[in-house]
Amino acid sequence: KLSLRDQLYEILALTAQFFQHALRQPQGEAALTYLEQARQLRPETIQHFELGYAPAGWQTLYGYLVEQKRYPVELVEQAGLIVPRQGGKGHYDRFRDRLMIPIHDLQGRVIGFGGRAFGEAQPKYLNSPETELFDKGNTLFALDKARGAIAKDDRAVVVEGYFDVIALHAAGITNVVASLGTALSLAQVKQLLRYTESKQVVFNFDADAAGQRAADRAIGELANLAYKGEVQLRILTIPDGKDPDEFLQNHAVADYQTLLNDAPLWLDWQIQTLLADKDLDQPDQFQQGIQSIAKLLGDLPNASLRTHYIHRCAEWLSRGNARLTVQLESDL
Ligand code: UTP
Ligand code: MN
Ligand code: MN
Ligand code: MN
Ligand code: MN
Repeated sequence: KLSLRDQLYEILALTAQFFQHALRQPQGEAALTYLEQARQLRPETIQHFELGYAPAGWQTLYGYLVEQKRYPVELVEQAGLIVPRQGGKGHYDRFRDRLMIPIHDLQGRVIGFGGRAFGEAQPKYLNSPETELFDKGNTLFALDKARGAIAKDDRAVVVEGYFDVIALHAAGITNVVASLGTALSLAQVKQLLRYTESKQVVFNFDADAAGQRAADRAIGELANLAYKGEVQLRILTIPDGKDPDEFLQNHAVADYQTLLNDAPLWLDWQIQTLLADKDLDQPDQFQQGIQSIAKLLGDLPNASLRTHYIHRCAEWLSRGNARLTVQLESDL
């Protein structure tokens, strides 16, 4: 007899097939059209990511797994696929009328799903809950497909969204994983570092306020590793508020490669961000700029790194002004 975990793997694998099959049925036509037209995906990409469709009924998957395949209700519930009715008997399908994206573990086994709504239905993405198999803080979307390329390119790229990964992989940039919208954890980054010898990690979160906050938070999480040189962290922010998927809709892949190769190191990015909204010709804003940078550099535990950045900042602020270097040093 199979262990609980093996039974859950089996149910999730069958479910992924069920969703893939539904995408090719008349009921899945709108979903397929959405993938091909709105998201511009080729059939081989849809196949590679095993994309599917969860039908609109309340008990479609339930009927398949419980009634047809005879899996115990409790097991299907533990797989995160059905939800008990509030204050009543019975269960209903968690994912209904959504585009389904399977999430795999390192061995390529399905451990959960993300489901995207069509149109304006909320929430935009509904994800599997944490289960016996699905530990969100330890999972990176598409790491199973990306790890070979991370090793080959000696660099890992982390994006926010499912479709950012899918679009980049489809464009031939395959060393890319997604954090799935949750705050990136140290455990997730450590997984990536197993595959890149020179510890190169690039964060390419959305260029909106939420994405930039996520980058800041992730930097905080990694600061200690970064100080010790155990991660070479770069931050890529796409111009004009876009995510990588949107960028690729109207730019060449080579343009993305250029952005990737030019991505600033995390401290440079933080300093640039601190100065971005300041008019340095205004004395008060200039002063604020210096103070916020002094605070950032004051946290650096490494004296040579600090000295390096003091000079760099003085250069940025007014092209090598020696008095500014002295002021930064004294503000520290
Ligand atoms: P975004 O809001 O940037 O969505 O969230 P997106 O990936 O660009 O979505 P598209 O392009 O409109 O389809 C980034 C990621 O955050 C998670 C998902 O993993 C999403 O890909 N997220 C977002 C959720 O889990 N639930 C949500 O309601 C929204
Ligand atoms: Mn699979
Ligand atoms: Mn976003
Ligand atoms: Mn996005
Ligand atoms: Mn997007």
